Amino acid sequence: MCGIFAYINHLVPKQRKVILETLINGLKRLEYRGYDSAGLAIEGSSSYPLETGKEQMTRIIKKQGKVKALEEEIQVQEDLDFDLVFDIHCGIAHTRWATHGVPNAINSHPHRSGEQNEFVVIHNGIITNYKDIKTFLQTKGFRFESDTDTEVIAKLIKYIYDSQGNKDISFRELVESVILQLEGAFALAFMSTKYPGQCVASRRGSPLLIGIKTKQKLNSDYVPILYKDAITDSRPNASTMPRSLSMSNFEIVGESKEAEYFFASDASAVIEHTNRVIYLEDNDVAAVQDGCLSIHRLKKEEGDMMSREVKTLKMELQQIMKGNYNYFMQKEIFEQPESVINTMRGRLNFEDHTVILGGLKKYLSEMNRCRRLLFIACGTSYHSAMATRQLMEELTQLPVMIELSSDFLDRRTPIFRDDVCFFISQSGETADTLNALRYCKERGALLVGITNTVGSTISRETHCGVHINAGPEIGVASTKAYTSQFISLVMFALMMNQDKLSTTERRKQIINDLRRLPDLIKEILQQDDQIKKLAEELVEEKSILLMGRGFNFATCLEGALKIKELCYLHSEGILAGELKHGPLALVDEDMPVILIAMKDGTYTKCQNALHEVLARKCRPIVICDKKDLEMQGHASRSIGIPGCVDCLQGILSVIPLQLLAFHVAVLRGFDVDCPRNLAKSVTVE
Ligand code: UD1
Ligand code: BG6
Repeated sequence: MCGIFAYINHLVPKQRKVILETLINGLKRLEYRGYDSAGLAIEGSSSYPLETGKEQMTRIIKKQGKVKALEEEIQVQEDLDFDLVFDIHCGIAHTRWATHGVPNAINSHPHRSGEQNEFVVIHNGIITNYKDIKTFLQTKGFRFESDTDTEVIAKLIKYIYDSQGNKDISFRELVESVILQLEGAFALAFMSTKYPGQCVASRRGSPLLIGIKTKQKLNSDYVPILYKDAITDSRPNASTMPRSLSMSNFEIVGESKEAEYFFASDASAVIEHTNRVIYLEDNDVAAVQDGCLSIHRLKKEEGDMMSREVKTLKMELQQIMKGNYNYFMQKEIFEQPESVINTMRGRLNFEDHTVILGGLKKYLSEMNRCRRLLFIACGTSYHSAMATRQLMEELTQLPVMIELSSDFLDRRTPIFRDDVCFFISQSGETADTLNALRYCKERGALLVGITNTVGSTISRETHCGVHINAGPEIGVASTKAYTSQFISLVMFALMMNQDKLSTTERRKQIINDLRRLPDLIKEILQQDDQIKKLAEELVEEKSILLMGRGFNFATCLEGALKIKELCYLHSEGILAGELKHGPLALVDEDMPVILIAMKDGTYTKCQNALHEVLARKCRPIVICDKKDLEMQGHASRSIGIPGCVDCLQGILSVIPLQLLAFHVAVLRGFDVDCPRNLAKSVTVE
């Protein structure tokens, strides 16, 4: 997840310093989407059209760190004339959350076509076929300067432009040719010295909107869509569709064409300028040329709308940053249908049922020969290892140890050269986990990182690893990082098992259900209101017990941690198999118990646990398969979740608990995003 922002002023004269301030402020609003580096590009010359002999080159300024660091970098650019006035200008800006390549100035955006900065681009998303495009462009003589996937886009547009010879091709058509070649997810904005004052943007899978600011009224609240393939469309209405690819299908009423346009990843970046916005849809290509905006699509699909509405935002800035949510944690819980896709993107092939974790490929045979696998982490990250341990053992047939970083170090646990040690950490900076890493490094083990943060210390100090790509997590209590860590570990187990014929069916079943996950998660999220009602019943409790076993024991631990962290009430995750050995003494009619009982190998034993607590007059809340009416019949309240393969159920069963903890905390009036006494990144032992 990154933030992209572009600003175009047409016949609205602006000083360069105002343009830069606008770009920087836009980025500051988007900083929550990523903050490891930032950059921007502005036009070199204020004459329009460009004249030869003038300084024409697009100026790119990039800096590692937060937007503030970029702002300071701009201030020391002594050769920039900040007072220069531009009647027409396009500038683009980006705040990065690294996926490809460590956070540094070179890897940050905008990326450029070559030393002359003829085409520059900003990108949010992941281009999964970038390696193929890069190899192709290298054979054509392009030299790459960064480790990013994005740079191929800047080079590809230049390549296509040059291949056209002198043919008159619009900027928008060029961009269309580029996006046809891209696989993966993107929101893009382009500028070019070949097309000064113009900006073209497009999206597929990543958000993008356009803010419109004009003194005059707009001639319509709808921008009609132009289709490139209208000419060849044989359906009945095709002939009535616009054939023209003219740029002025959206006019501003009045003589003058004075207008300002803002492209942004979300409305928080534009609201201070205008409340009139258009939300682009996947595969829309929006172009600003001569002050007019037009929206194009390559192909008319069934059910496509004929226009995009210009909406009027009524929200406050603070609201917009969190989308429709009141808290970052809530937003992050609801982002999970997308974040799980981002973890799997480019790694899982759902057609031939294979997994490639690019970062681990070359270590695979060493891993298969190891003495044992160790998973070392703290808090939620530790639970992700617990949640996948059974599958790890099943698919690797290796001894698997799960360790809390602090305890692992306290014990001075013996480590050998042929151990493979995994360090799981959302932030990649947790001190205890990092110390454990260095301890294992001294003993010669193979070190593997599972982290959400490219360029973090754990990512850098491990031999290899997996970036989980969940996007930045702002809420202190980890939610989407947990489900993405879970999936990364499942993918690792699958990859270790890839060559075993006897488990082909099992692998297929797991991969098929990984594919279904986003829909299954959405289904659970729809029960939010019902879970909120449950939270209202639990809000006054002093303690909540969560019980489960097998694949769902970790869910109980994680659910209890969420309740502790956010609601400041005692909560304990209990292995249902241990119930009789102590915890049952706590159970009576007043003790709230949540039991997780899915239809897996432990189902009958979970039923026994249910009856044991029922016999103590307890009124348990049960999380079970939505089709399991028998279980629901015994429960006083239940949450039904969709069924899936046993080893992935923990990804689904944790979501109602995330929501429950969230709602109880809000009802108790606590700050869910910043619980007391806790920090997102614990960099002290
Ligand atoms: C790459 C992309 C990723 C994309 C995927 C599929 C990069 C950096 N990542 O991922 O965004 O989703 O293709 O298109 O290009 N590493 C460590 N320690 C860690 C984590 C990673 O050493 O804790 C190393 C890995 O071994 C690898 C590099 O960092 O060498 C990148 O890791 P990762 O992003 O997971 O690699 P890919 O799966 O190839
Ligand atoms: C902190 C956070 O304690 O660190 C937890 O509050 C988190 O949410 C734990 O699980 C571990 O952090 P990380 O970054 O190593 O996964």
